[in-house]
Amino acid sequence: MDDRISLESAELAAIYDAIYADRDDAGFWQAMAAATGDGPILELGCGTGRVLLPLARAGHEITGLDLSAEMLERCGAKLQSEPPEVRGCVRLLQADMTSFDLGRRFAALICPFAGFQQLRTVEQQLATLERCRTHLLPHGRLVLDLPNPDPAPAEYSREAPGDGESTAELVEWTDGRRIRWWMTVIGYDRLQQVNECEVTYEVIESGGASRRLTETISLRYTFRYELEHLLVRAGFRIVALYGDYDRSPLADESPALIVVAEALGA
Ligand SMILES: C[S@@+](CC[C@H](N)C(=O)[O-])C[C@H]1O[C@@H](n2cnc3c(N)ncnc32)[C@H](O)[C@@H]1O
Repeated sequence: MDDRISLESAELAAIYDAIYADRDDAGFWQAMAAATGDGPILELGCGTGRVLLPLARAGHEITGLDLSAEMLERCGAKLQSEPPEVRGCVRLLQADMTSFDLGRRFAALICPFAGFQQLRTVEQQLATLERCRTHLLPHGRLVLDLPNPDPAPAEYSREAPGDGESTAELVEWTDGRRIRWWMTVIGYDRLQQVNECEVTYEVIESGGASRRLTETISLRYTFRYELEHLLVRAGFRIVALYGDYDRSPLADESPALIVVAEALGA
């Protein structure tokens, strides 16, 4: 059975948590947050709280903003099982990162795990950076975490089972269920640098029965110098560029393109 689901699906939010539970960026975000001292943090595209909750547990005051009601709902539900001192550190709100106005400034604005990649146009990117500039305290830091794009199309694709079965990933879920998932690039708009990606999640019940959920997402590829030019155009100064969560310098083979920037004249 193949169900087409939207990004807003509550089940997708639960699947998201399962498949990205072991992502290797936790230490990076803890170090970034620690560098802000006691200053408040704003996470753009906080999703289910995968990054936000550990930062709140470490005592950071953090606001999580996301467009998706379902992702926020899951984040809020997880927050309810935290102790009061953690809950007291967190504020969640549904908003668009291109147009938010919180009426206050933050010591750090973070956009982990390719949240910025979901902005399809340069206008959306610039609008977001303008909002970021307005919400940063003097010497506050903006940290954007993007993939380091490789123009070879094969690099973008996790193959479907069958010919490329080994590239599909299998993860344990709850109640003995497992999820096998893969991503296929079904269209690439070179002019807009946008990949249309079809992500398939095969939920395998403990008895072996399975069903498939499919979603389509658009991801814009932003290259290194383009990101630098964009930030300068939006009134930022680049403080550091990393190629991975170990904070190694950006290099040809780097999987990530992580930029730390400061607002000029803020
Ligand atoms: C890949 S998830 C990352 C979630 C979380 N930061 C993490 O690291 O697990 C990207 C998130 O960005 C959100 N998002 C996409 N476009 C957005 C927008 N314009 N404004 C706010 N959130 C957005 C999505 O709903 C999604 O939760």
